[in-house]
Amino acid sequence: MAHTAPQPFAVPAERALTGALTVPGDKSISHRALMFASLAVGESRISGLLEGEDVLATAAAMRAMGAHIERGADDIWRVNGVGVGGLRQPDTALEMGNSGTSTRLLMGLVASHPITVTFTGDASLSGRPMGRVIEPLSQMGADITASPGGRLPLMVRGICPAVPITYTLPVASAQVKSAVLLAGLNTPGITRVVEPVATRDHSERMLRGFGADLTVEETSECRVISLVGEPELKPQDITVPGDPSSAGFWLVAASIVPGSDIVVRNVGLNPTRIGLITALRMMGADIAELDPRTVGGEPVADLRVRHAALTAIDVPANLAPSMIDEYPVLFVAAAFATGRTTARGAHELRVKESDRIATMAAALGACGVAYEEHEDGLAITGTGGGPIPGGATIASKLDHRIAMSMVVAGLHAAATITIDDIAPVATSYPAFFQTLASLTQITEETHA
Ligand code: S3P
Repeated sequence: MAHTAPQPFAVPAERALTGALTVPGDKSISHRALMFASLAVGESRISGLLEGEDVLATAAAMRAMGAHIERGADDIWRVNGVGVGGLRQPDTALEMGNSGTSTRLLMGLVASHPITVTFTGDASLSGRPMGRVIEPLSQMGADITASPGGRLPLMVRGICPAVPITYTLPVASAQVKSAVLLAGLNTPGITRVVEPVATRDHSERMLRGFGADLTVEETSECRVISLVGEPELKPQDITVPGDPSSAGFWLVAASIVPGSDIVVRNVGLNPTRIGLITALRMMGADIAELDPRTVGGEPVADLRVRHAALTAIDVPANLAPSMIDEYPVLFVAAAFATGRTTARGAHELRVKESDRIATMAAALGACGVAYEEHEDGLAITGTGGGPIPGGATIASKLDHRIAMSMVVAGLHAAATITIDDIAPVATSYPAFFQTLASLTQITEETHA
């Protein structure tokens, strides 16, 4: 998990992407599957789990707090949980690596248990704000001591019983929503989260699947999620659908590289996650849905994507929550469109694994792309479909999605783009470079 020597990667350009690929399991759903299964009594089985470093950090943490978690030779993960309220004191600090989702959701879980847990992380995670979860969890009675600025390392001293609260999210964040709901699991009474803007709803769907009494009321102004505390969660068999965020790199890659025609199999199409597909279609992308089906309670389809001429758009700000992780690769798509694309209303990008507005502005700027930086987004002038100049080494700032997005940009560049360090890609997409090689028919020799 600790990334020692940086691993640079020179992106091979101008090879059409052809063939089919299967996207790895959804990261958000994988974290939640491990956590909820760890709180059920009996054996849950999870197939399609994302085996990236972030999810493995969650598995290690749940083991350290008493769950039995094993990966079988059949690739199925078997989890024997401790029951709601049954987490035990871990012997050492929990090392969260790069994973904000693990950290924030587990802080919620720990908050309503009578245990004290220290959370540590890498340089990127240690710079990210945790105040947004400290605030509601403190209202529930947890005692949290953070490093200056509300950052890691931090210590959560949980309380049992905690106090149920009604919490209105000040930022659109599924992690904060989930942290409060997870704390609410071992809290007597009803814990409520009010969401002015809908964010990904995997926690709600899955908690219901595990047997929790959870209701969602939708009004024109907000969503109100109410969870009755102290449920008995029942073990489940879960199939994790493919991650639309991982699919996003291929959707953009095939759209921008001339001659491309691919099928991306197993893409989760939960409505709270498909903003990138909506935006790309508005730009003129050719994305067809094949074989729509339901996997693990989530809508899934295969997507056929062919190269297409993209046209600039004003990205509607209300798409932000459903494409929050996809802006870096959307900025790449914009760099190849005809005209000037503006994407605003995405302040949250400033506090992701890196400041994704500044990091992408610097990366695209270094490659000769014209942009204007705003506090809450970017305006990007595209090439009209031709290659970008390229010829730069990208500082990816320990951010997996910046590294993968700039690989995509490098596929259609006049001069080679080099990524400074691709090691962080393993946090969410360990097979990314194998898939890239197979879609572009690159062998070790052709690349060398
Ligand atoms: C996630 C929520 C989002 C997203 C992250 C995963 C989740 O974060 O960016 O990659 O699984 O709940 P925020 O809650 O900070 O928006």
